[in-house]
Amino acid sequence: MKYAVITGTSKGLGASIAKQLMEASVHVIGIARSENKALMDADLPGSYQHYQTDLADLEQTQQTFMEIIEFLKKQPLESLQLVQNAALVTPIEQVGKQDSKQLTAHVHVNLLSPMIITNLWLDAWRDSDLPLVLVNVTSGAANRSVYGWNAYGSSKAGLDRYTNTVALEQDTLGTGNKVFLFDPSIMDTEMQGEIRSSDQSQFADVEQFKNYKTDNKLRDTDDVAKVLVDRLLDETTIQNGEYYSVKDVL
Ligand SMILES: NC(=O)c1ccc[n+]([C@@H]2O[C@H](COP(=O)([O-])OP(=O)(O)OC[C@H]3O[C@@H](n4cnc5c(N)ncnc54)[C@H](OP(=O)(O)O)[C@@H]3O)[C@@H](O)[C@H]2O)c1
Repeated sequence: MKYAVITGTSKGLGASIAKQLMEASVHVIGIARSENKALMDADLPGSYQHYQTDLADLEQTQQTFMEIIEFLKKQPLESLQLVQNAALVTPIEQVGKQDSKQLTAHVHVNLLSPMIITNLWLDAWRDSDLPLVLVNVTSGAANRSVYGWNAYGSSKAGLDRYTNTVALEQDTLGTGNKVFLFDPSIMDTEMQGEIRSSDQSQFADVEQFKNYKTDNKLRDTDDVAKVLVDRLLDETTIQNGEYYSVKDVL
């Protein structure tokens, strides 16, 4: 059986990726703080199992993944993919005016949880012949400085370096595992709503992002998910360590 574990499936891009993989007979295990009733009730060839977990809580994250790994070890696995998509854009604020708790949650969800999960994942399947696929969802913000996005740009830049380093290690070790980055560009999700709701003093480019919405420049998550899912459904097309952008296709 084909399995995919996806973080952030309650809405946005993660929900679209989950649905499309289920349509292709992949069994999806989704993780988020809120459930996704539509996925749970969907009558599709692939099943959906949800783990309600706060990825800002590292003990909860570790516990959830130990349970998922224990479950998966009992399944006849034909393929196993991990899509780390969950992220926060907040706090959107200049440095010097931020709340430390919000900053901690940000780094936990965007960077530390992917590191902890990847470590557990590679440890769990070290002695298996099954080549793993791991994709981390990044952002163009990793590569440029944006006023007010100091946390987001830094956590995504950290995720990029981490992903590239894991890919290098897997390559050197000759595991056959593929680890890569996916950049979805701008999409019409709640995250964009949060961006638009910031004040100009917090986020200097807020008008530009409001215009993206009014000018219909934000992609639909189903269109973006299709670009990634097409790749995931043909693992031979994936290059270990690659930076794959939706803009390469759409
Ligand atoms: N939207 C864009 O324009 C854009 C652009 C570039 C990159 N991206 C990247 O694309 C990915 C998806 O973004 P999106 O726009 O779909 O975001 P979204 O609509 O805000 O959805 C984020 C998902 O992450 C989950 N999540 C957030 N905090 C969590 C936590 N503490 N514990 C568990 N799950 C948590 C949310 O679930 P719960 O709230 O239910 O926990 C939700 O399912 C992110 O990595 C983002 O950085 C987005």
